[in-house]
Amino acid sequence: MTFQQYVATQSERVNIALHRLVPEESCAPTIIHKAMRYSLFAGGKRIRPLLCMAAGEAIHPNAPGIEDAACALELIHTYSLIHDDLPALDNDDLRRGRPTNHKVFGEAMAILAGDSLLTLAFQVLAELPHCPPDRTIRIVAELAIASGTVGGMIAGQVHDLEGEHMAPSAKLLDTIHRAKTGALLRASVRIGALYAGASETQLAALSDYGEHIGLAFQIVDDLLDIEQSSEQLGKTAGKDAAQHKITFPAVYGVERSHDMAREELSAAHRALEAFGESAHWLREIANTIVNRTH
Ligand code: IPE
Ligand code: IPE
Ligand code: MG
Ligand code: MG
Ligand code: MG
Repeated sequence: MTFQQYVATQSERVNIALHRLVPEESCAPTIIHKAMRYSLFAGGKRIRPLLCMAAGEAIHPNAPGIEDAACALELIHTYSLIHDDLPALDNDDLRRGRPTNHKVFGEAMAILAGDSLLTLAFQVLAELPHCPPDRTIRIVAELAIASGTVGGMIAGQVHDLEGEHMAPSAKLLDTIHRAKTGALLRASVRIGALYAGASETQLAALSDYGEHIGLAFQIVDDLLDIEQSSEQLGKTAGKDAAQHKITFPAVYGVERSHDMAREELSAAHRALEAFGESAHWLREIANTIVNRTH
């Protein structure tokens, strides 16, 4: 199987599961389900679910039902994007190649759509059909912490917003990026590994991998904001500089940022050394995270 075929197969698995897990548009109140589905099925790259399932495969070749756990990550991620785009945060008009959620459904409904996706994520985990309860409990905690206010996604968003009024520094940059994007990517890997029954040693190595690709991911996101067009990205390019965001290129310059992304990629590969062939797709996903064009 080529990597392209692998991504297509796994993304389809995730999309089928999401369609099953998210209430139909016809379900009352219809507007909220339309708003949730509008952003969920807008063509996201599904990197977090892919990481979750590939981490599971590194531990066990077949973990039935892992796609539901992977969906919880995409639900949280999509909620974070809807809220990130709100006028009170980044004030963006374009996301995943479409007008942002609040542009279509209004601010009130966009806030509620984000809230609903967040809530649904934890329902999905609570109802995982094939996961032993002790693993489920650990997975719920992983997702809550990674999305939360202590080193998690919300912490990162807070630092990111406050950073608009601060002088860029390497320390603040590291804090923002590890939290706002890194935490959920690391958790994607850890949740897949936990679901598949990883030992603590395996979990530690995969966390290390997750941390490096998490950082690489946001370095590249910052670079793409400068180097690509809005059309290519499906979101507004050039916004970081316009909003005085603390980014890798702002602190280190474009060239050094590219080097740093490659260094994180190498470190991610090193973290997988003990896994041999079973981590094949995790290696490919890491390469894609660094070499992507959108
Ligand atoms: C973009 O994430 C937002 C960040 C966390 C930097 P992705 O690049 O994974 O966005 P989608 O899911 O493909 O739209
Ligand atoms: C968003 O970071 C991170 C989260 C949504 C948690 P950015 O603000 O850099 O994401 P984009 O560039 O708008 O996708
Ligand atoms: Mg933002
Ligand atoms: Mg943004
Ligand atoms: Mg960005």
